[in-house]
Amino acid sequence: MTSAHHTHPNLVSATLSEVASMLDDGMIISDPSGLILSANNAAVRFLGEGLVGRSLGEVVSVEAVADILAGEASERNLVFSPQGNVTMEFNVRIRRMDDGLIMVLLLDMTLQRNLEKVRRDFVANVSHELRSPLTSLAGFIETILVNEVRDWPTQQRFLKIMEEEAGRMSRLIDDLLSLSRVEVDEHIIPDQKVPLLEVVKSVIATFETRAKRRQMRIRLNDRRADMASRLFMYGFADEITEVFHNLIENAIKYGFEDTEINVDIDSGRGSNVTVSVTNVGEVVAEKHLSRLTERFYRVDKARSRQIGGTGLGLAIVKHIVNRHRGTMAITSTSEGVTCFAVTLPVLEDE
Ligand SMILES: Nc1ncnc2c1ncn2[C@@H]1O[C@H](COP(=O)(O)OP(=O)(O)OP(=O)(O)O)[C@@H](O)[C@H]1O
Ligand SMILES: [Mg+2]
Repeated sequence: MTSAHHTHPNLVSATLSEVASMLDDGMIISDPSGLILSANNAAVRFLGEGLVGRSLGEVVSVEAVADILAGEASERNLVFSPQGNVTMEFNVRIRRMDDGLIMVLLLDMTLQRNLEKVRRDFVANVSHELRSPLTSLAGFIETILVNEVRDWPTQQRFLKIMEEEAGRMSRLIDDLLSLSRVEVDEHIIPDQKVPLLEVVKSVIATFETRAKRRQMRIRLNDRRADMASRLFMYGFADEITEVFHNLIENAIKYGFEDTEINVDIDSGRGSNVTVSVTNVGEVVAEKHLSRLTERFYRVDKARSRQIGGTGLGLAIVKHIVNRHRGTMAITSTSEGVTCFAVTLPVLEDE
């Protein structure tokens, strides 16, 4: 038997409420006078329990509802934040249907609005970070141009500062490019075979001189059960290098002079390996730990600026680690022992 209708009339209301319960968007239906007849799960999540039986104008307190109820309009779209909950924001669509019932759809825009805020903050941060060295550069150029400093030693001192500021700007731009490249390529699954141990060793080698300048020593400790295995992983060699470059650079920058930096390699569960970089320095308070990987987050802005940091290093590290299906744990003890432990999946030796 085939039906002349596309749907059986009894099916309509049953299906409608079932569909409504599956929607991520809030759906409220009221009678022509605005008395709420039904509200789906999402609507209850957004606006609270006990919606049925209340008046629509009270729950969604916007003028547009009054207009619809008064019959002055049949459809309205607007933005709405529930009373006492300004952190949420909805796009609301209200429509009077043919049978007089009023349907309200609430689309949660909170996440999107927050993402927009993150983006705005990011642009503001970048502009600020670029503007300060630029202002300083312009100032020195002006001073030299108007010929206020005639003696060469002073000029040379100014030029040295200018060189540093220019360097800071170019590092910031490099970091920004690196971050956006990692983000754009995030979906590409790494397929190069990277010799993890070799990468770590070569990064340590490149930092030896810099560490010595602060009377620091970098020690590599291979604590794996099977130290003979060659430790390959699927990845992008450049990116894995960047991870340990950033972590070891931080350890040198934020560790105390005349201390030791330890790079430990441990075999973890399954085919995971953990490489941790540990240094002794100032205590990093608990509340900072989870935020260190945020872009531009620095514990001590003034000090970081002085030792030349933009606060993008760990944001880049986190992205790269995620992309390689790894994790990173950050800990800091009350003795100032700070540890960045990166766990990565490695290949079984063939
Ligand atoms: N090993 C560490 N010990 C103590 N604090 C650290 C350590 N590594 C990072 N931090 C803190 O985390 C902040 C963010 O680190 P991140 O590497 O992202 O930025 P940065 O080093 O300031 O600048 P960049 O790496 O972009 O040059 C640092 O400013 C510092 O406050
Ligand atoms: Mg850094």
